[in-house]
Amino acid sequence: MRVAIFASADDAAARTAELIAAEIASLAAPAAIAFPTGRTPVAVYDRLAARAAEGGLSFGRVLPFMLDEYAGLPPDHPASFNAFLRRHLFDRIGIAARREGLIRGDAADPEAEALRYEAEIARAGGFALCFLGIGDNGHIAFNEPGSSLGSRSRLRRLTRTTMAANAGEQDGAGTVPDHAVTVGIGTILESRKIVLLATGAAKADAVARMIEGPVTAMCPASALQLHPRVRVVLDQAAAARLRRSEDYADPA
Ligand code: PGA
Repeated sequence: MRVAIFASADDAAARTAELIAAEIASLAAPAAIAFPTGRTPVAVYDRLAARAAEGGLSFGRVLPFMLDEYAGLPPDHPASFNAFLRRHLFDRIGIAARREGLIRGDAADPEAEALRYEAEIARAGGFALCFLGIGDNGHIAFNEPGSSLGSRSRLRRLTRTTMAANAGEQDGAGTVPDHAVTVGIGTILESRKIVLLATGAAKADAVARMIEGPVTAMCPASALQLHPRVRVVLDQAAAARLRRSEDYADPA
């Protein structure tokens, strides 16, 4: 893992946007890129949208994919991740959301929807880049602690801590669904490159376990230690519990 620690969350988001923009600019052919939801990536999406508006970045070769979606929510539900990505990213950068890259939370058979989604990712050649956040409990996408490190896209039950953490984030208010369709850890590990952004003190424990802890299903993000091309971008608060932070002098 290449770990970069920035003084502020703003600086970390700016660096993450640069890394993603550089990947997008280097695409020679259409390629799948996975985009997360959550509070953390919003600052990155603001920057990507600004660059697109300035004409400095074209998303023409990006095949956008989402990572997860609440089971039961239709794509036009304001609390759905479909709606989140449209609002914060797709509508602002002028790319149409494609059915292939979207999970239907309201699919009658969520297990079948997960299988379809896994096949769509494979058909697109896998993720050229997977942009991730991390949950306070170490989850990546909605792979909660205990998820198989080889898991594929599937229906997962959410933990109470995740439901509580996400409750405040729902524009539509209401209760958070207790299941989600999520890409698997095995799916994520097949991405050619991974960029993970974590900011804020609430992430410090999960970040330390991801980078310096053992590889364990109890911290799904620790599986990223097995991947050869991971960039982790942190602010100082999220890096606070790293024991070897002085060694992570990622100059770029
Ligand atoms: P957050 O979510 O950015 O809202 O903290 C991250 C996650 O749960 O993956």
